[in-house]
Amino acid sequence: MSSDFSEQTATEAVVQSFAATQDARLREVMESFTRHLHGFVRDVEPSQREWETAIAFLTDIGHLCDDRRQEFILLSDVMGVSMLVDAINNRLPVGATESTVLGPFHVVESPRRALGDDIATAHDSPRCLVRGRVLGLDGTPLPGALLDVWQADDRGLYDVQKADAPEHDLRGLFTTDAEGRFWFRTIVPAHYPIPDDGPVGALLRATGRHPYRPAHIHLIAGAEGHHPVTTHVFVEDSPYLDDDTVFGVKQSLVRPVTDEDDPGIAAELGLPNPFRVIDVDVTLAKA
Ligand code: BEZ
Ligand code: FE
Repeated sequence: MSSDFSEQTATEAVVQSFAATQDARLREVMESFTRHLHGFVRDVEPSQREWETAIAFLTDIGHLCDDRRQEFILLSDVMGVSMLVDAINNRLPVGATESTVLGPFHVVESPRRALGDDIATAHDSPRCLVRGRVLGLDGTPLPGALLDVWQADDRGLYDVQKADAPEHDLRGLFTTDAEGRFWFRTIVPAHYPIPDDGPVGALLRATGRHPYRPAHIHLIAGAEGHHPVTTHVFVEDSPYLDDDTVFGVKQSLVRPVTDEDDPGIAAELGLPNPFRVIDVDVTLAKA
């Protein structure tokens, strides 16, 4: 005789309900999800009212998801889940550039740009040269590597967050030269808050957390035969380097902005001399 659904039998009953799932991976995931979800509920013993609050919270998150806003990913970000999934999927050899979170401000196709181009299309702030090489793990330069770059401006805003920004401001796709080098001009980004006008922002406020990320430039680097990396360059001395609200900082990705006095390069690139530089090499593991 089967027993009633009760506190004692609940978890096994739900696990059993998935037993006939054809897809073995789906069965494994649903069993684990059931056990952890029930474990969580048994642990916190929510009141009916708290359960309703949780459902309303998830409903609000869903209502803020469309082509321009993805509040579920933001929830995953502030819960450290995006970075945990990233870590599990990028167990790279020592020496390879570390990965970090993609974030919601990547666009599918940035414009192709020539080496040396200025990606800051409508900004007055002093320019900074970002330069480096894409290398294999053994130090071999990788010519023809593709570098997708995007960043916030000096007020901490991405182009897609501004009504009046030129299209593809502070974005570009670069290809490394015959020696694996890349260089472009930009402005130094500022730290910024993640979108905090929705339920995720409310969660951060209710728990005394801030919404800020340290200043950074996003990069995706890829080269033939190599494992691509989605990463950032973090600006040394930026606020929130020790306290990124999405847990994305890795010390190996922090770089200083230095001053360089080189009239030749300055004239060639149309920069005042001395000029500011961020040097960053990207090292890719073999695929
Ligand atoms: C970003 O760096 O663009 C970002 C990452 C996670 C959440 C929000 C923004
Ligand atoms: Fe960002």
